[in-house]
Parts: sequence; C-alpha cells; structure tokens
Amino acid sequence: MVRSRILGVGRYLPERAVSNFELEEMFDTSDEWIRQRTGIEERRFADEGVYCSDLASEAARRALENAGLEAEDLDFIIFATLSPDHHFPGSGVYLQAKMGLAGIGCMDVRNQCTGFLYSLAVADAFVRVGMYRRVLVVGAEVHSSALNFTNEGRDVAVLFGDGAGAVVIGPSEDDSRGILSTHMHADGHFADKLKLDIWDISKKPYITPETLTNGDIWPKMAGKEVFKHAVTRIPEVVESVLKECNLKTEDVDLFLPHQANLRINQFAAYRLGVPEEKFYSNIESYGNTTAASIPIALSEVLENGMIEKNHLIMMVAFGSGFTWAASLMRW
Ligand code: UT7
Repeated sequence: MVRSRILGVGRYLPERAVSNFELEEMFDTSDEWIRQRTGIEERRFADEGVYCSDLASEAARRALENAGLEAEDLDFIIFATLSPDHHFPGSGVYLQAKMGLAGIGCMDVRNQCTGFLYSLAVADAFVRVGMYRRVLVVGAEVHSSALNFTNEGRDVAVLFGDGAGAVVIGPSEDDSRGILSTHMHADGHFADKLKLDIWDISKKPYITPETLTNGDIWPKMAGKEVFKHAVTRIPEVVESVLKECNLKTEDVDLFLPHQANLRINQFAAYRLGVPEEKFYSNIESYGNTTAASIPIALSEVLENGMIEKNHLIMMVAFGSGFTWAASLMRW
C-alpha cells in the first residue's frame, strides 16, 4: 500500500484584525486577562456576507498553487468546519461550486477542533487504498457571527477567530515519507461541555422564538473542564502515536498543536517533556480557528522555513465532543 503525503498547503485569513483592546470596548474584559489566560492578542473577523466556503476557497486556491496543481486535478473534497455556510447542504458543495468544479465527491466533517485531523485520516485512507489520487482537505471557520459579545458570552467570545487552511493529499513517491499514523478518539459523555444549542431537532419546531432570547444561539463552554481534559488527552494521544511508530518525543522535529489556548499547549509540552519552542504557536495572532488552526500553522511553518525534508511533524488536537486526535508525518 502506498503512503499518502501533503502535496501543497495554503491559508487564508480575513484582513480585519480585532485586538483584545477592541473587545474591551464591547464588554468587561481586558487585554491582560485574555493574554494571561490564553496568549491571544488579536484575531481575524470576516466581514458581513462572507461565508466559510469563501475563506476555504481562497485557502484551497493557494494550496493547489503550492502543490503545482489545478482545481481540475482534484478527485475529492473534504471540508471540516463547525461553522458551515448553512445547516445543509454541507459547505463542501459550496466550495466545489466556487472552485468551478462539478462532479467530484464532497464530504463535510463536523468534528470541531479535531475536524482537520479526522479529515486528513480519511483522505490518507482514500489515497492509500488507491481510491483517489488528489484529495483536497480544508478546515475553515467563520466564528465571528456566532459569538456573544456581551458579558454573558465573554468567556467564549475572546477565544475564537475566523480563518481557513487547506492541504492537497496525494500518493508519496517515497515510502518513508508522508503520513505515518493517525489516532482518533472521542468521548461523547462530554458532548455538553462545549456546544451550540440553537439547532434542537427534538423540538417541534426545532427553533422557537424563545431560542432567540434564552441564550441558545450562543456557544456554551465549561472552560475549566475542557482545559483539564485537553492537557491530559493531548500528551496521551501523542505518546500512543509515537509508541506505534517506535519513536520518542525527542525524535519529533516540530509539534503543530491545535491553537485553543497557549496555556493548554504549554502544559501539554511540559507533560511530554518537550521544549516549548518545539510546540508551534500562532494563537497570539488568530485566536482559536478550530478546524483551520493546524493547516494554517502548517502553511506558516513551511513559509518560515521551519520544516525540512524528512522532518518528523506531530499534529495534535483536542476539542468539543470531546474529540482528540494526533497525526505524525515525515515531511
Ligand atoms: O478547542 C477547545 C476550545 N476551548 C478551550 O480550549 C477552552 C479551554 N478553557 C480555557 O481556555 C479557560 O477555561 C478559559 C480561558 C476559557 C477561562 O479561564 P479560567 O481560568 O478557567 O477562568 P474562569 O472561567 O474560571 O473565570 C475566572 C474569572 C471569572 O470571574 P470570577 O467568577 O472569578 O469573578 C469569570 O467570570 O474570569 C471571569 N472571566 C473573564 N474576565 C475577563 C471569564 N471570561 C472573562 C473575560 N474577561 N473574557
């Protein structure tokens, strides 16, 4: 069976940067509180009228360019997001149409912060069994429309930002390079710890006038609980992937963790005994971009020359669900 590898990477961040100081004008918060607790300094917000698939489309165009491929070379699209353009159909088909494509399969993955890694695992499997040769995997989010910019929502509102990252996956000509292993986990007992209630199909009708006033339109998060589980699950899943590959943490050249909170990643690095500089961070500039954070980070580190051929890269994420996953690749 051939291995798959990433052939090209692209990112797109909306232009409008929103600083912590700007949020101070909207509700009771402070730059100091946000930076101390999360490491975030600013985030990007998409303008009114911009869809998740619009951000994805630009990131995809750049990933294809980086891979030296045309949109027509793609065999399949996997779109990871928790902020889809519409509840249905999935954002993958909107992206496909915006890319001028028709006919190839499109699939949405609704796995929140681990959405990119789950999608990557699916693309990897497609390529390895020879089902598809060129798979586009996109992670994209427009969070800014669904954040409560009042005191009630401030714990969540300060964390999230908009953005998109994309990769093209294809067969690796060298068997030692490419995606080596991905481990995925979930524990639905914690589904209520980070969720958005607005869509409740058990209600008839599923959205009522009360939904608009009782807070159900905003995401709710048990922050401390998410934090506590994240700092345990991240090291655990990293270690299980390394064990399967007979490798040690010291062998990893760079960690690309999901960017939920700088303190979570510092804690995880400490537990793994990894120097902090090996745990890439860009949360200060973008906040938490959920499914987009890892491909955005990958695109940045490639541009910065932080990855060389044969480097071992560990990607890892934890989030709503709870879901968690890690994927190791040799570049
Ligand atoms: O991808 C997964 C996404 N989510 C996460 O990763 C979140 C993980 N959790 C966290 O990052 C942290 O729990 C937070 C950063 C969200 C919150 O930090 P915390 O240390 O757990 O704070 P807390 O919720 O215990 O709140 C401490 C205080 C409270 O005030 P009192 O009750 O002590 O007076 C909050 O009301 O901070 C207050 N607070 C704020 N103050 C200023 C909550 N949000 C804010 C805010 N600005 N934005």
